Amino acid sequence: MTNHLPTIDRRRPARRLGLLAGIGLALILAAAPARAEGDPVAGEAIYKRCGGCHSIDRNRVGPKHEGLFGRKAGSVPGFDYSKAMRQSGIVWDDATLDRFLENPRAVVPGTKMTYAGVKDAQERADLIAYLKQATKPAAP
Ligand code: HEC
Repeated sequence: MTNHLPTIDRRRPARRLGLLAGIGLALILAAAPARAEGDPVAGEAIYKRCGGCHSIDRNRVGPKHEGLFGRKAGSVPGFDYSKAMRQSGIVWDDATLDRFLENPRAVVPGTKMTYAGVKDAQERADLIAYLKQATKPAAP
């Protein structure tokens, strides 16, 4: 009997840690949609990481980004997308870009975009704010 009590006591901190981790995760998930507004000026600098493959107005290693928002993934004429991207069913907006850019190959398995992603949420918000301005289709 006296042997049981210390055993239970020793287990408790581990359980409390598990609970805290669960609460922490819930808080992170709840806070995600309320992330700070992106800064397009900072985003322009981050877009340089994409510049090895992308440009706004012409297809290169990656498709051009002009007209990105509201566009179906894999739909720029003349660009040879992966089947995975064409069939992803994604429409690009703040939320889908945020998810894709965090981890491209996890969100679109089989994508030809061999880029690890932008792991920092604020950097993604800045990048998306920049893209929103810079990818507006040119006036006809
Ligand atoms: C190593 C080259 C490379 C880099 C670096 C890269 N991309 Fe890509 N990206 C691609 C390729 C290739 C595709 C086409 C993917 C496919 O067809 O599966 C693509 C596709 C995309 C798409 C989908 C476009 C569409 O028309 O559906 C977006 C959005 C995108 N990239 C954004 C970015 C951003 C933002 C960055 C920088 C943070 C970046 N990419 C960095 C090569 C790259």
